[in-house]
Amino acid sequence: MANSPLPSPYAPGAGTLPPVIAGRGKHLSVVEDYIHAAAHLGRAPGSPIAYSGVRGMGKTVLLKHAENSIREYSAAVGITTSLLACKGERLLPLLAQGLRNTAAERELTTQPAWRRWAERVESFTIEVALTGASVNVELGNKEPRNLTDFGYQAFVRIIEDLVTLARVDDKKRPVIGVCVDELQEADREHITEFAAAIQEITSKQLPVIFLVGGLANLPEVISEAATFGERFRYLPLTKLSLSASVEALVQPAEQLHVSWTKEALTEVISAAKGFPHLIQLYGEETWHAATPAKGSTLLASHAQSGIAEGRSALYNGMFQARWRRSTEREKDFLAAMAKHGDTDMPIRQIAEALGKNPQQISPLRASLIAKGTIYAPRHGRIEFTMPGFADFITDVLKE
Ligand SMILES: Nc1ncnc2c1ncn2[C@@H]1O[C@H](COP(=O)(O)OP(=O)(O)OP(=O)(O)O)[C@@H](O)[C@H]1O
Ligand SMILES: [Mg+2]
Repeated sequence: MANSPLPSPYAPGAGTLPPVIAGRGKHLSVVEDYIHAAAHLGRAPGSPIAYSGVRGMGKTVLLKHAENSIREYSAAVGITTSLLACKGERLLPLLAQGLRNTAAERELTTQPAWRRWAERVESFTIEVALTGASVNVELGNKEPRNLTDFGYQAFVRIIEDLVTLARVDDKKRPVIGVCVDELQEADREHITEFAAAIQEITSKQLPVIFLVGGLANLPEVISEAATFGERFRYLPLTKLSLSASVEALVQPAEQLHVSWTKEALTEVISAAKGFPHLIQLYGEETWHAATPAKGSTLLASHAQSGIAEGRSALYNGMFQARWRRSTEREKDFLAAMAKHGDTDMPIRQIAEALGKNPQQISPLRASLIAKGTIYAPRHGRIEFTMPGFADFITDVLKE
């Protein structure tokens, strides 16, 4: 049927790949360069890639895209693993297990050395489970006192042997991708151990690409856990530019022969303020409001109802959850911030409003940053991580 309504091409949601990854040309090309080097020279560039940014900026999307690119790179045997870091869980055994599972999918099980390697992964995981988290770490120092206790060297050997195992044919070299998302959630000693393994693997010049993602405080979290943290290649994700926002909205619609009026675009772009998550959400709701068919145009009126619908979804979902997760003292802090609206503000003013000095409120500031509710765009200043939260708080406090 020529005129039946079309499904929305937009992709709101956590980690859902958007139809167009807009405005991240540099981030994408760095990964392409790494894959190219790993596949053709047999070694990846030395620095692990780290995507940092506030919630909804597109970190998970970039990690997934990188993982797909490694697996689909036709001139290489791509083996990847990815995991979501959690408190209390060591990263290395989970990563080793993940690599074993993908290696099996890539049919390396027919290799003569497979069984021994797979058994080593198994015993590494068991050994680690037995030693648990009782590792010998001197938290005052940046590096663990006795790195052998960490078993990171066993992980390094597993990776070295995987590279050998996967070198099945001379024309296709192996490229291994190791991705960890939400790294700020991991325990400090587990980040230390992970960084130690990365450093060792990097120094051995292997075709292994490490990618991590985390909140805006990721660079500090990593460098507090490991001196090697300074060597990560930090690629912060900031708001999308005007032209990238336009591209993210217009291109997916164009592919379905649907157009946006300038007014409709202006409505959505000024409400989304460059936040990829909001662009997808408001784009999708505008689409639903218009129920377009091939040849339709999205109008400002559709955008207005779409934005209203999107806001109510945020109020009932993300904003409500963030508010409920805050302690009473954090709520007072957020309420003081809400008076300034969605723009960035000096921390000093919030301290004054709460009758304290900046040092006294610094633990609250830190816990709200760790929860991803606020961030520090510049020294001495703070801002909500999602536009619209200030209005939400004002409304909640009125109720
Ligand atoms: N470059 C982009 N262009 C268009 N849309 C994007 C882009 N990056 C991300 N998105 C969209 O934004 C939303 C959030 O992306 P993603 O989940 O990757 O963010 P995140 O930074 O990992 O957030 P969180 O910190 O909550 O995990 C998704 O709907 C995704 O499709
Ligand atoms: Mg994410």
